[in-house]
Amino acid sequence: MGVTTVTDVRQTDRASSIEPTVSPESSVLAKLFRSEQGGHEQVVLCQDRASGLKAVIALHSTALGPALGGTRFHAYASDEEAVEDALNLARGMSYKNALAGLDHGGGKAVIIGDPDTLKSEELLLAYGRFVASLGGRYVTACDVGTYVADMDVVARENRWTTGRSPENGGAGDSSVLTAFGVFQGMRAAAKVQWGEPTLRGRRVGIAGVGKVGHHLVEHLVDDGAEVVITDVRADAVERIVARHPGRVTAVSDAEVLVRTPLDVYAPCALGGALDDATVGALTATVVCGAANNQLAHPGVEKDLADRGILYAPDYVVNAGGVIQVADELHGFDFDRAKAKATKIYDTTLAIFDRAKADGVPPAVAADRLAEQRIAERTPSAEWLRPEGSA
Ligand SMILES: NC(=O)c1ccc[n+]([C@@H]2O[C@H](COP(=O)([O-])OP(=O)(O)OC[C@H]3O[C@@H](n4cnc5c(N)ncnc54)[C@H](O)[C@@H]3O)[C@@H](O)[C@H]2O)c1
Repeated sequence: MGVTTVTDVRQTDRASSIEPTVSPESSVLAKLFRSEQGGHEQVVLCQDRASGLKAVIALHSTALGPALGGTRFHAYASDEEAVEDALNLARGMSYKNALAGLDHGGGKAVIIGDPDTLKSEELLLAYGRFVASLGGRYVTACDVGTYVADMDVVARENRWTTGRSPENGGAGDSSVLTAFGVFQGMRAAAKVQWGEPTLRGRRVGIAGVGKVGHHLVEHLVDDGAEVVITDVRADAVERIVARHPGRVTAVSDAEVLVRTPLDVYAPCALGGALDDATVGALTATVVCGAANNQLAHPGVEKDLADRGILYAPDYVVNAGGVIQVADELHGFDFDRAKAKATKIYDTTLAIFDRAKADGVPPAVAADRLAEQRIAERTPSAEWLRPEGSA
């Protein structure tokens, strides 16, 4: 096993003094050391030849506490692409964790390769030892390509693995609180758009009724909304429509859904749901859903605002899952985690207020608020010191 670590303990502009010797602006190293978008604290490249593990653990910031973020297992086209993805995802987690009110910085790991062919117990244990080697600076969890059962294996090698099964001290499926948090964000948007924090009498379209989406349907039906759903899995759609006759209807696909008369559109399937064509066609005046990275490209947030569509930033409203896994570190307590996820309502309102005050779209206001919280905290490694030491 070998560990290569690139460390910049504190994010400062001093790095610019060595600019002539660093890589071109477009390179991964430029993103790490120079870009305003990057400035990561530490990146660890991990290899275990015996199991075939190749992984990247990126810690964007530990200013608020141990970096927390999941492990993505994916067959990247190149190693550079994997590093780039880890850097971007880790930075996103800093923002998400900051606005979720967690005492956690942002980090993310990627394991390079096809999980269907490469994943093995040996590999996950080797990965767990790399997480252990960071001594608590990084706390891991599930992400695309990794599951609760995998985290149970990773956790055998360290104390900093969440997303485990309840039998192993974990909280299990995070989609319950994710859906609850999205519903809180939607209530906040309803308050701003229509004066009352309820979806009663509103028509909400949900694209993707998987783990999160189907829980969201229940919250909305309970609140008195009419729900229109779509999913590529016809069986999932039929089951939900049958459970709520007259309250939930279905349309053929997401393209039809966005053109259907709606008050709220909730993307709960894949990223990039809000592209130019979708924004142009939307009938809804609120967008609030669980999917990560909904804005297909920079500028979409402004197009939404220009059309009078209130966009509840994805990483703010879908933070229920990370709130849940963070709670595992303290011995999971569902009610405590739910109470924290309830605050997504206040946070979303604060973002809309800030957006109005600054004259910027809510996505920009969210980033500003997150950056403010991170900057206000004096970095400290207090959480790494042995108990009782100064
Ligand atoms: N599960 C969580 O706790 C959590 C937390 C934060 C963010 N998210 C994000 O929320 C989204 C949904 O997560 P999930 O856990 O429910 O995933 P999931 O895979 O259980 O559900 C996604 C659903 O979308 C459907 N789908 C895929 N492509 C579609 C399309 N083109 N049109 C309509 N439906 C389509 C799938 O068939 C599936 O039923 C993802 O973007 C995920 O990253 C999930």
